[in-house]
Amino acid sequence: MNHRKKLIEVALPLVAINKACAREKSIRHGHPSTLHLWWARRPLAAARAVIFAQMVDDPSSCPDLFPTEKAQAKERKRLFGIIEELVKWENTTNERVIEAARAEIWQSWRRACAENADHPRAKELFDREVLPAFHDPFAGGGALPLEAQRLGLEAHASDLNPVAVLINKAMIEIPPKFAGRPPVNRHWQSKSSEEQAAQVWPGARGLAEDVRFYGKWMRDEAEKRIGQLYPKVKVTEEMARERPDLEPYVGRALTVIAWLWARTVKSPNPAFADVDVPLVSTFMLSTKKGKEAYVEPVVEGNGYRFTVKVGMPKDAAETKKGTKLSRGANFQCLMSGTPMAPQYIKDEGKARRMGARLMAIVAEGDRGRVYLAPTPEMEAIALTAQPTWKPETPLPADMRSHWTPPYGLETYGDLFTPRQLVALTTFSDLVQEARKEIQRDALAAGLPADDTPLAQAGTGARAYAEAVGVYLAFAVDKCSDYWSAICSWHNSGQKMRNTFGRQAIPMVWDYTEGNPFCTSTGNFMAMVDWTWKAVGTVPSRSKGLAEQADAASQVASSDKVISTDPPYYDNIGYADLSDFFYVWLRRSLKPTFPDLFATLAVPKAEELVATPYRHGGREQAEAFFMDGMTQAMHRLATQAHPAFPVTIYYAFKQSERKGDEGTSSTGWETFLDAVIQAGFAISGTWPMRTELGNRMIGSGTNALASSIILVCCPRAADAPTTSRREFLQALKAELPQALAHLQKSNIAPVDLAQAAIGPGMAVYTRYARVLESDGSPLAVRTALALINRVLDETLASQEGDFDADSRWALAWFEQSGFDEGDFGLAETLSKAKNTSVHGLVDAGVLASKGGKVRLLSPADLPEDWDPRADSRLTVWEMVHHLIRVLEAGGESAAAELASKLDSQAETARELAYRLYTLCERKKRASEALAYNALVQSWPEIMRLARDGTRPQTEQADLFGDESEA
Ligand SMILES: C[S@@+](CC[C@H](N)C(=O)[O-])C[C@H]1O[C@@H](n2cnc3c(N)ncnc32)[C@H](O)[C@@H]1O
Repeated sequence: MNHRKKLIEVALPLVAINKACAREKSIRHGHPSTLHLWWARRPLAAARAVIFAQMVDDPSSCPDLFPTEKAQAKERKRLFGIIEELVKWENTTNERVIEAARAEIWQSWRRACAENADHPRAKELFDREVLPAFHDPFAGGGALPLEAQRLGLEAHASDLNPVAVLINKAMIEIPPKFAGRPPVNRHWQSKSSEEQAAQVWPGARGLAEDVRFYGKWMRDEAEKRIGQLYPKVKVTEEMARERPDLEPYVGRALTVIAWLWARTVKSPNPAFADVDVPLVSTFMLSTKKGKEAYVEPVVEGNGYRFTVKVGMPKDAAETKKGTKLSRGANFQCLMSGTPMAPQYIKDEGKARRMGARLMAIVAEGDRGRVYLAPTPEMEAIALTAQPTWKPETPLPADMRSHWTPPYGLETYGDLFTPRQLVALTTFSDLVQEARKEIQRDALAAGLPADDTPLAQAGTGARAYAEAVGVYLAFAVDKCSDYWSAICSWHNSGQKMRNTFGRQAIPMVWDYTEGNPFCTSTGNFMAMVDWTWKAVGTVPSRSKGLAEQADAASQVASSDKVISTDPPYYDNIGYADLSDFFYVWLRRSLKPTFPDLFATLAVPKAEELVATPYRHGGREQAEAFFMDGMTQAMHRLATQAHPAFPVTIYYAFKQSERKGDEGTSSTGWETFLDAVIQAGFAISGTWPMRTELGNRMIGSGTNALASSIILVCCPRAADAPTTSRREFLQALKAELPQALAHLQKSNIAPVDLAQAAIGPGMAVYTRYARVLESDGSPLAVRTALALINRVLDETLASQEGDFDADSRWALAWFEQSGFDEGDFGLAETLSKAKNTSVHGLVDAGVLASKGGKVRLLSPADLPEDWDPRADSRLTVWEMVHHLIRVLEAGGESAAAELASKLDSQAETARELAYRLYTLCERKKRASEALAYNALVQSWPEIMRLARDGTRPQTEQADLFGDESEA
């Protein structure tokens, strides 16, 4: 089989990808992730770039087309340009940009087909008219299959978890079935044929419009059925007596946005044994400047009541604390001040003595929220709610992610108030009723009367109704996230928090009950809006298929392109967390997907998560995880399409990084080991900041990668065995070139060490085994250490390019940074480096006074420096002056200076890399940041220096100044 190296095996524009990932985190409206919550989703930008780069040939593998290094670099730069456009959020639905990427994929594919025409399975594997299909066996929230589909591949997704499978069906399987169709709803049908002809419904827009329409229908039906549980609140004169701000509302009935409740337990003080005292984590209702409001409890006789006041409380600190004494379940009795320890509260909860008292009402005012004291009627109405169903599935005994069971909230049903249960069951019933409505309308609109269910590949009226039902059930799931008694009030944002603010179900003491029928935070139509808008943006092209399968035994990967993001140890207990949604989805959708919802809860036994409570201890859990993961990886190594490398995301835990080992860590080593044991050779390890928000290069260690993309190919069956010595020799021979390549592609210094592991691992995994001198196998940990050593040596050897003064400064900096040091020491070092302290002062590198010396930092350097007039010009000065100017005046100013450095600029970049590596090892975070920033801005500085034009917003020339092949 003829295999050409793919772009991802050589270079990636990480800066642009990371930037797009960071930006994507702030995108909410219309993002497919808003269809349904899933934990630890990968940004679409990363998924898209990775799949593209694993399918497109690297120019070095096309010497017929790009014979010289220069020509290859130029072509690589062109491909980078495509990726830079492709990853931008605003281009997600830009057909021109995406089509350009698809065309590149096809071109590489056709080359592969032509070359492999003689392959024994050429017919199945290399059909030049059909791109191979894609598969992700750990599909989760579906980012990877969705992007594969967008790039024109038939997309297959599998996951063990039925909720994840359903999300993938909703993203890649259902939309293409109904793509390009107009909606079927009555409103659309009532339009004239001219009106209808004037509107087009590309992609899944028609489907999205029906989700919106029937979502509204459900809302209106529900209001008829349960609207009485959500009455308006009447503002009386009496209420306004103590609250002049309420005067304009007297006599008016305001729509309630939320009811704020405090959980209660019996007072531990015998004098108040009958009083249910509140557990309140804060009495502040609004901390918004100028709109402050708070609850003031009033103790009266043998009881208490809550009043609501506006403005800042006199004792703000006390009000902020509520009745909480300290972190955890430590409260005090409102009546007596008696402390209540966590165990007391747990005992009360277990004994079913935990209740709730209405603490405040939030209503819609004329210009914002109005906070009102509770009324007996409001409390009484809530208590009239009589749910006919509640999910009885027990919560897991995993205290890391489920905090409520010790307090007596032991089933998923316990997480909701009766009124919330009534609302959710009503809307869930309405999903089923809506299906009938939709089917009737779909038939009237002319859809085939075919009764084949959606689950059996139907595309007629019934299947369409079931399809819309899936999205409506998603909207109900979103409601469950906002309508549980785990949702607290966000007093600075004045809105409801959702249940899953974190990857856990925490215990919440004072919770919020929203109003499905209001128009503010947490209402039903808001959930429908999120859903239909997301539906409208999915690619809905190429076939998609999502199924439930265990990655350790799946067969769906056969002959497919694979990119996958497996679970990482015990980071997230997907199955346990997703039961929260599963119980509602099952209720709404079991008739549509009887197989998917066959079990009462999400299947857990095969889940590849190292959950100690499930496996009888940490060690057993880890063994289960590693064993299963190796099996899953083995399936990929044996099934993947032979023309493409497999890409695997490894979620990197920040806490794993330790000391001087830099990128090595136990979890990382073990994972690499599993991948290698599974039969893979590794050819790339790309760091990506897929978890970060906007602070991409934050402070020091925060700027580290959050994922590493492993690029793997099945190891040759006849791979040889070698010795440690030969392995080291091969590293020394190959790593410098790979490193130079990475530096040339302007990889950020923060990413260099990690990215350089890839070529190093490629050497290590080329062999079946590397043996130590005593015949024992050389461990992954040792291989990583050796790779790092050669990397260091290679960087150090670049010092040969620096002048003597800069070499001295580098050595001094390693020892003392910009701190003061002894003149004598400096002088001794200068002899070794063939310079002198005097000369260094002369050069403008060093300050020397009173027997002490100190390197000049960028802030100490003169502003009028002109390299052309400097008679003792050093690379050291170039770097630090460039940093000074970049920090003060940005890239244009730095470019002005760089234009005076001529050919020496490249050496300055090398020094900046070297200094960054040094600072990182020495944990000098702020200095590291400055060197990293300089290297990152380098292409733009050079471009500006060359052209003298204005700065671009994007990464510019990645390959230095090669302009012609
Ligand atoms: C890191 S998540 C994938 C996230 C996904 N890439 C995204 O962007 O949303 C890992 C997934 O692996 C799934 N999983 C865990 N054990 C599995 C198994 N044995 N077989 C298949 N999937 C499994 C989990 O349900 C979870 O959805």
